[in-house]
Amino acid sequence: MQQESEIIERLWREHRIDAEGLRTLLATKEQACLEELYARARETAQRIYGNKIYIRGLIEFTNYCKNNCYYCGIRCENQGAERYRLTKEEILSCCETGYGLGFRTFVLQGGEDPYYTDERVCGLVSAIRERYPDCAITLSIGEKPKESYQAYFDAGANRYLLRHETADEAHYGRLHPPELSLANRKRCLYDLKEIGFQTGCGFMVGSPGQTAETLYEDLMLIRKLRPQMVGIGPFIPQKDTPFGQMPAGTLEQTLRLLAIIRLLHPPVLLPATTALGTIHPKGREQGILAGANVVMPNLSPVNVRKKYALYDNKICTGDEAAECRLCLNRRVEEIGYQIVTDRGDYAGDVPSGD
Ligand code: SAM
Ligand code: FES
Repeated sequence: MQQESEIIERLWREHRIDAEGLRTLLATKEQACLEELYARARETAQRIYGNKIYIRGLIEFTNYCKNNCYYCGIRCENQGAERYRLTKEEILSCCETGYGLGFRTFVLQGGEDPYYTDERVCGLVSAIRERYPDCAITLSIGEKPKESYQAYFDAGANRYLLRHETADEAHYGRLHPPELSLANRKRCLYDLKEIGFQTGCGFMVGSPGQTAETLYEDLMLIRKLRPQMVGIGPFIPQKDTPFGQMPAGTLEQTLRLLAIIRLLHPPVLLPATTALGTIHPKGREQGILAGANVVMPNLSPVNVRKKYALYDNKICTGDEAAECRLCLNRRVEEIGYQIVTDRGDYAGDVPSGD
């Protein structure tokens, strides 16, 4: 008990943890310690962001992907995936709906779809930028050369999400085919930061082969990269992938890691993800109570929702954007928070007070 308290105290005061401390926090069965961990993380988020929760409108605009990641339901070898891509007009219409609902950040996420050349991506970004000068545009379309990232940035994109998936070389090889490398992922992340994107890395909790040691490397990467965002959510198997029979990551481990990341890097923008809401009906609420401060409801047209099936049993696939917005309002208010109409920028430049 004593030991856990010391680890939490150090995390809170110094924003540091060592490998053994992490192992202890991930394994502890002391409920009181976990409550302490979540409370400290929650207070830290509140000190910086108050009781505000930022929303991001997620537009899953293509599920074509040239990659073959072993965990992912839209991998190119999955014959069972029914492919779709939204047109520019459809995407702009999602933004219009979203803007009316109070979204001031649009996240364009998709597989690595060769149809969406740099020229098309830039055309899309500048069209959104022109119509919504007050909104942030986030891209999440995978690994690209630095010149492509620069072109997206110049067209008006502000943020980029690219989960690193794991910072451990051998584990990376267990999750991905040989043509994908951790070195290139990291190169992408550092390029994005250098260009000036608010950058997000992250990983799945409970992915096959993950250990306390690989997680420690993830945390060290976060400490070094100092990303503005970190996206983490449980791994959930998709039945037609090589990991279709693997166990899902747990709510408990995800909450612990959310709290640890909040304490390690206090100003980080930290979403309570859809995957967390999928493994537990109150997963997103519990995520917020463990230090998360962002939710990312779906703005994609309902007729394509089910097709962006990264994993099985994904929630909200039948709900219109407006329904999700109302539902989230209610969920967030029930736990004493409030969704705000705001771009929701990183507060890292504001003195953190410690
Ligand atoms: N292509 C872009 C990329 O690679 O960053 C964006 C789309 S990709 C599908 C978005 C994220 O979904 C991945 O970074 C991965 O962490 C997550 N994901 C994929 N399969 C998953 C699964 N089975 N369970 C939970 N998350 C998954
Ligand atoms: Fe989509 Fe609740 S957030 S229905």
